[in-house]
Amino acid sequence: MKRSVNDCVILDLPKISDARGNLTFIEGNSHIPFDIKRVYYLYDVPGGAERGEHAHKDLHQLIVAISGSFDVILNDGHEERRFHLNRSYFGLYVCPMMWRGLDNFSSGSVCMVLASDIYDENDYIREREVFFQLAQDEQNDHSIP
Ligand code: TYD
Repeated sequence: MKRSVNDCVILDLPKISDARGNLTFIEGNSHIPFDIKRVYYLYDVPGGAERGEHAHKDLHQLIVAISGSFDVILNDGHEERRFHLNRSYFGLYVCPMMWRGLDNFSSGSVCMVLASDIYDENDYIREREVFFQLAQDEQNDHSIP
């Protein structure tokens, strides 16, 4: 199935506002369109660092700036969009076959990722040229009448 960067959206997560501190919760297949099988987070990211720079074949993810802020750049092989995440009640849904990079991390930021599957190196596309060739091939397949 051909995926578009426009399938990737910032989801407004439930927020219980309270004078004692706010609370946000995320239930798989309810607030996000997949079951959660894994959680990981990036922290102690040095200024100027870039993370990501790969795509996943089948993995669905939700990226949340639990603390601080950073940017996520998504590219479907044809179109690119930059998302700025800076609230712990916003989550960026990233569908499979999106080239992604993360940069512009603020000091002390924490990037939490909810993933639809356990870690599998075979699900990664780590070479940029390979990803863009696959995206091109997919478009050519879809343009055949
Ligand atoms: P990677 O996904 O390439 O990091 P990023 O996209 O943030 O730059 O992962 C970095 C390393 O960590 C790589 O050697 C794989 C390993 N890793 C795991 O072992 N399990 C995991 O769940 C993740 C996300 C990474």
